[in-house]
Amino acid sequence: MLLKNLRPADEYDRFASQALEPWDVLFVTRIRQIARDMQPGVLVDIGTATVVVPVRLAADPVFKDWRFIGLDLDADMLEGGRPRIEALGLSDVIELKVGDALDLPFADNSLAMAVGRATLHHLPDKVKSLTEMYRVLQPGGIGLVHDMRRDVAPALLEKFTQMRAAVGYPPTHVEEKVTLEEARQLVRDAGLEHCTAVTSPGFGLGALGFEILIKKPLLA
Ligand SMILES: C[S@@+](CC[C@H](N)C(=O)[O-])C[C@H]1O[C@@H](n2cnc3c(N)ncnc32)[C@H](O)[C@@H]1O
Repeated sequence: MLLKNLRPADEYDRFASQALEPWDVLFVTRIRQIARDMQPGVLVDIGTATVVVPVRLAADPVFKDWRFIGLDLDADMLEGGRPRIEALGLSDVIELKVGDALDLPFADNSLAMAVGRATLHHLPDKVKSLTEMYRVLQPGGIGLVHDMRRDVAPALLEKFTQMRAAVGYPPTHVEEKVTLEEARQLVRDAGLEHCTAVTSPGFGLGALGFEILIKKPLLA
């Protein structure tokens, strides 16, 4: 199955592993910063595609004793990532699961972290995706969403387009993304503003996007 505006798994994987390095570093560094202060638990990467992010996390000593679930609606994407997991001997640490961000196949209050990069803009009900993320987090758990801004600076968008073109990947569909203010409104609509921060760095490649950071209160 191929979702709107997505390339097949092999093409996506080539793009993700060759052109997304700066964002991998940014996202993984951010997750790492947060996880350092947490007890090991289960982290789900929602819309994981070919599982690039969980593989990077699993290799990091900070995540010793963590377990990872790469979740995606598209089984072909997950299968595209499986050889990498097997080659690195990570099959016991990273589980692959077909599932929907809008109806997460996890119990309430069950996961330490739920993250998702560049998935939000694909979802028809973005508010539901945030309430689902919150639902499955254990008290004290963390939700982290990174996605691209529609209101991105034109020069930065041009740079991103060139980076994609360098690995033969077409320009992004910026019109399907949300603006920083729309991201903040999604959080308000989800009723999560009491425990959520929405930010966007003012400089660097990170300024292409925004971050939604949900901290589920210990006494939720
Ligand atoms: C642009 S890719 C991002 C992949 C990965 N997170 C990354 O940063 O490289 C978006 C992924 O979201 C998945 N996706 C789209 N809708 C979804 C849904 N409702 N539930 C779960 N995954 C979904 C797609 O299949 C695709 O693999």
